[in-house]
Amino acid sequence: MSLERGQFSSKIGFILAAAGSAVGLGNLVAFPVAATKNGGGAFLLMYAIFVVAICLPLMIAELSLGRNTCRNPFGAFKELSNNSPIWKFFGMFMMITPFMIGVFYTVVTVWIVGYLFEIVTGNLDVLSQAETFGQFINSPDVFLYMAIVFAMVKLILVGGVKDGIERLAKFLMPALFVLLIALMVYVLTLENAFLGVKYYLIPDISKITLPVISGALSQAFFSLSLGMGILITYGSYLRKQDDISKSAFSVAMTDSGVAFLAGLMILPAIFSFNPETDTSQLTSSSVGMIFVFLPKIFLALQADIGYFGASLIAGIFFILVLFAAITSLVSIIEVPVAGFIDNRGYPRDKALLIVGELMAALTVIAALSFGMSQFFTEFVSYAGKVKSFFDILENVFYDTILPINGLIVCIFVMYRWKQANFNAEMETGGEGIARTWMQKYVNISLMTFIPVILALVAISTIALKFFGVNLLA
Ligand code: PHE
Repeated sequence: MSLERGQFSSKIGFILAAAGSAVGLGNLVAFPVAATKNGGGAFLLMYAIFVVAICLPLMIAELSLGRNTCRNPFGAFKELSNNSPIWKFFGMFMMITPFMIGVFYTVVTVWIVGYLFEIVTGNLDVLSQAETFGQFINSPDVFLYMAIVFAMVKLILVGGVKDGIERLAKFLMPALFVLLIALMVYVLTLENAFLGVKYYLIPDISKITLPVISGALSQAFFSLSLGMGILITYGSYLRKQDDISKSAFSVAMTDSGVAFLAGLMILPAIFSFNPETDTSQLTSSSVGMIFVFLPKIFLALQADIGYFGASLIAGIFFILVLFAAITSLVSIIEVPVAGFIDNRGYPRDKALLIVGELMAALTVIAALSFGMSQFFTEFVSYAGKVKSFFDILENVFYDTILPINGLIVCIFVMYRWKQANFNAEMETGGEGIARTWMQKYVNISLMTFIPVILALVAISTIALKFFGVNLLA
């Protein structure tokens, strides 16, 4: 490993940093929304199965690839395939994915900053009105907040792996956990909260449909930062003495635990404010849903602790969501940055500048696509609907490409890099896994049914999202 490449300083530092990447808007915002829309318990069940049966083996594969090569995805694919053009292409693809996801991720992070600002200036009550969100995302203020987000990310990334990413995560992750639990306990004391708990925890098997399955899988991938080369890149900063499978397990459990708690806070709150909630009526463009409900949850605290107290708690929560989002964003941007450093030999600040500028330009376009620019708002139409630039990013990179990238990783690791090399890397620092049923499961699943499932999900998602055809109906 070359000297300038960063390295995490401890096992727990790595776990917190990887968990910092994994825990983000996906857990605190997207997961509760997806669970509410997709049948509650049915979604939770599918999600849990996917995390354990599919995501965990893939996570181990990605981390092993990264640590073995000490490279970003492109470098890892290139090195282990002896420069094969096809694999280099796929490696490149895996660098572009986080970049594009970073664009829509930044947009939502910008909204969080804006909401935080409104809360701090005493406007929690305004935020809790349903029409505020639509107005807010179309106000030019978003560009100011965007500048703030970029500045924060840059500040951390300049610090590098150990002093920037790891230091931040070590403090923020535990704080987030504590606050989340406190809020959840409060919500569960609200009237009608149990309706939400029931909807969330008792699966209605008849609700397991194709959109629920594909939604749960994309959500699990996104939430665990899989299929984006992030874990390959973070794996490249992992020390040889660290146990890859145990680390992967800790990261997956932390991430799922946070998502579960967020669900246990948000779903009961939704039902508590509106016991008649008809979940089938929730529209598909409901990232915004959470931006309506969260302020309401906090405003309800007013009865117990007054408006100031409610705003204070809301402010703290939004700060933590913001930091969770920033640690994720940092990991997303780290991938292309590591790419420029490794492949082109650029110094870190030059790589950051190039990636940052490109990303800023696309983020501005995405932010304009909610109405400010008609061109980007009604960018194209497919599957019978007009889609904005933001919708496309979501449909292409979040819904479709993540499973495809997962498929590529399986095939690469098992059929090109080969099982013996993969197992040797897994056993480095983690001798205990050698020849266990766990290792056998990881090997066999990655070789057989995981790629098959991922391929089927990818095909059916493409049919559904882009052609409006439900293959299972
Ligand atoms: N996993 C993060 C979340 O749940 C998002 C993320 C996506 C992070 C892609 C890194 C890469 O919010």
